[in-house]
Amino acid sequence: MSDGIRVAAVDDVEPGEALVLDTALTATADAISLFRDDDGTYYALDDTCSHEDASLAEGWIEAGEVECPLHATRFCLADGRPMCLPATKPVRTHRVEVRGEEVYLFPGVPAQVETGQINS
Ligand code: FES
Repeated sequence: MSDGIRVAAVDDVEPGEALVLDTALTATADAISLFRDDDGTYYALDDTCSHEDASLAEGWIEAGEVECPLHATRFCLADGRPMCLPATKPVRTHRVEVRGEEVYLFPGVPAQVETGQINS
């Protein structure tokens, strides 16, 4: 398995903020954003909301969720599922690893969630 792609330094994204990653860097057709929860934890999700065309990186990030800026669906940062309407489909998650002061992304590899799911 790959070692991932270095996409940021830990201090590049403040808690409660997000960074849209260049698709040339992630080598994906769809933009991926790096989200930093208010507790400092990093997550990566597809940037485009599953409801309509809105950038989730422009949403409100708090307590393990990001709220879409257009119609306010909240998505779980850990597994991408919508927590309320109007979105009904999840957004894809991508595995993130923090190693020292660097943040690494594994595009296309689903984030590990605490349900026993194994990705390696
Ligand atoms: S575009 Fe995100 S909830 Fe409608």
